[in-house]
Amino acid sequence: MPTAVHIPVLLKETVEALSIQPGGRYIDCTAGGGGHSEAILEHSAPGGQLLGIDADPEAAGIARERLARFGRSALIVNDNFANLEAICLKNEFEPVNGILFDLGLSSLQLGETGRGFSFKHGAPLDMRFAPGQTISAADIVNKYSEAELARIIFEFGEETHSRQIAHLIVRARPIRSTDELADLIGKAVPGRGRIHPATKTFQALRIAVNQELEHLESALGQAVKLLGNEGRLVVISYHSLEDRIVKNFMRREATGCTCPPGLPQCVCHHQPRLKLAHKGVIVPSLAEEKANPRSRSAKMRVAERVINNEEFREDSERLVALTAGKTSGWKRPEKLSMIYGAAQNFN
Ligand SMILES: C[S@@+](CC[C@H](N)C(=O)[O-])C[C@H]1O[C@@H](n2cnc3c(N)ncnc32)[C@H](O)[C@@H]1O
Repeated sequence: MPTAVHIPVLLKETVEALSIQPGGRYIDCTAGGGGHSEAILEHSAPGGQLLGIDADPEAAGIARERLARFGRSALIVNDNFANLEAICLKNEFEPVNGILFDLGLSSLQLGETGRGFSFKHGAPLDMRFAPGQTISAADIVNKYSEAELARIIFEFGEETHSRQIAHLIVRARPIRSTDELADLIGKAVPGRGRIHPATKTFQALRIAVNQELEHLESALGQAVKLLGNEGRLVVISYHSLEDRIVKNFMRREATGCTCPPGLPQCVCHHQPRLKLAHKGVIVPSLAEEKANPRSRSAKMRVAERVINNEEFREDSERLVALTAGKTSGWKRPEKLSMIYGAAQNFN
């Protein structure tokens, strides 16, 4: 059972960035201990609704309990945010006014002794967010080739000693526990100040076990489709690999034509679906860093949905077909008002 308490990071900034309105509808893709979700529900009252998602059944349970006082305004789903669109369609929860990702692990998970996320507690090499996932850290450590291990540690841990560590691991197999692995790396690799030499390898294994980068990339694409006009996308990341994905995604989606320079006319017809609500990143204040050291590496990026001409046309055509009785099953009437809200912007 978790012993730690999770303090939500950049809480005030998240509420502002989501531009929360009473009666609004929001998704927290990483409900965790329920801290951000609770603030979203408080600020969107009266009438606000929240769909919270967490891949970890225990985290989903904790969030559900914390949010019970909001009754039917809060729905918590135990699933991976890689399935974001399907979850929303199943629950008829779209379009929405804002979507939050607060990535990585909660202090509750780090504090749990049996999950293998931290090398501070001796535990089996697990690291799965959900018990149903097929690959654990033990599988990667004990079964993958030396070259594949080195690649994972280098790419997902940005560890410059990746080959040396992979070589050591393969020679020491089988490795069963987190402390065995941390000791092995600690003896061979120089420490970096206060950072344990195994930190980057543990990050790499966790990312690989949970396919974190692929899932993030996929979920961001789905999130944009679920946002109504002027809906906010807010992402808090904790390491450079995540932040790079978020930055590149938001920039790409905020760009118009992506044709190579020199073409006489645009052939890509790419239209922006987002605009950047803040040019750079939002980081915690010194006071927050002091009060919650875990917040130190946090970077928040915020973008706002813009419905472009092409999307507007597509939805209008669907509406015309619906009105003429040529199609049925329009389950998302609010989308129309959100999109028509945008119509005045078009000429
Ligand atoms: C930093 S914590 C979120 C804490 C939360 N914002 C709060 O205030 O308590 C991140 C949470 O995201 C969950 N998570 C990470 N990756 C996920 C994914 N792909 N799908 C769903 N949940 C995920 C983790 O299980 C963890 O509970």
